[in-house]
Amino acid sequence: MKALVLAGGSGSRLRPITHTGAKQLVPVANVPILFYGLAHFAEAGIKEVGMVVGDTEAEIRAAVGDGSRWGLEVTYLRQDAPRGLAHAVLIAREFLGDDDFLMYLGDNLLQSGVAGFVEGFERHRAAMREAGEADRAPAAQVLLARVPDPQRFGVAELAADGSVVRLVEKPEVPPSDLALVGVYLFDPSIHDAVASIEPSARGELEITDAIQWLLDHDHRVHHEIIEGWWIDTGKLTPLLEANRLLLEVAEPRIDGTVDEASTIEGRVVIEEGAVVIDSIIRGPAAIGANARIERSYIGPFSSVDHDCTVVGSELDHSIVLARSTIADVPRIVDSLIGRDAVVTRSAQRPRATRLMIGDHSQVDLDV
Ligand code: G1P
Repeated sequence: MKALVLAGGSGSRLRPITHTGAKQLVPVANVPILFYGLAHFAEAGIKEVGMVVGDTEAEIRAAVGDGSRWGLEVTYLRQDAPRGLAHAVLIAREFLGDDDFLMYLGDNLLQSGVAGFVEGFERHRAAMREAGEADRAPAAQVLLARVPDPQRFGVAELAADGSVVRLVEKPEVPPSDLALVGVYLFDPSIHDAVASIEPSARGELEITDAIQWLLDHDHRVHHEIIEGWWIDTGKLTPLLEANRLLLEVAEPRIDGTVDEASTIEGRVVIEEGAVVIDSIIRGPAAIGANARIERSYIGPFSSVDHDCTVVGSELDHSIVLARSTIADVPRIVDSLIGRDAVVTRSAQRPRATRLMIGDHSQVDLDV
């Protein structure tokens, strides 16, 4: 079993953060989203990972390297443009060989990991082979989640016996509320499928159409309904939600320095080299390595990444990326602040809001 990870795409819904970085590397609880997926592959016993990359290849390579940190061997596969999930399978043909594989969208986060999903597929296929019915073994397995807005996803229609009968990509009138989570298992029959389909209305080769092709050609497609939460982190609100969910289960640990005037409450991670002076940190919260928190309040569900400085400020339910400074700002909530950003309240006259913000930024002022 290999893994094929999709780590390209432009991340347009997380601009401006993704103007300068890959959406899969935005940290949640101070750990890049993609790293959770890689840890889950290792847990599922997967060793070989094909990483499909686009314009942000250099950044992904720098962060993930050869994968040995997770006991994985990562091979990079360059996709010239975002031409669809099925196109990623096409270009990975040589890497995948005739192995079964797990396909995984790199900006997804799954509470349950993938080990159970992979194990279920392998067990089922082995049982069919032993029963002499290898040709009736599932060629694919999809992971489904009940969602309130299925028209935003690929949607599955199940028969009364629970078998998958039809899959449609972003239907106007969804046949069910069962969305395809971006995690799939395939045997080599998928290669015929991706070579046979045509681009969709949005000009992409859809994996949903490829799986429908399998169904149309008498292959079986299994499904599982996801247990636990699943978050497609590509936008601000789900990203903050993922941050909340992961901070809630983080192992509390104080490796940095906290002075006597400070209070740490609840589930808090303070990395090595971080300094907390005359501040309150109310968990769940995470403070990255070498960050400096001074005369400040860091409220629940906040992640402040490495080398940040927060002075004389209050922060709640927010993510601050590496090396940023927040000084003398009374209250920041529900926010995502990029790398190397500076947010200050100055005494400069005339009193005014002075901005230098990136393209596609969003600013919500309280004055
Ligand atoms: C893709 C798939 C869709 C799936 C979704 C899950 O959509 O095409 O079937 O439900 O991922 O996140 P996209 O994110 O490319 O719009």
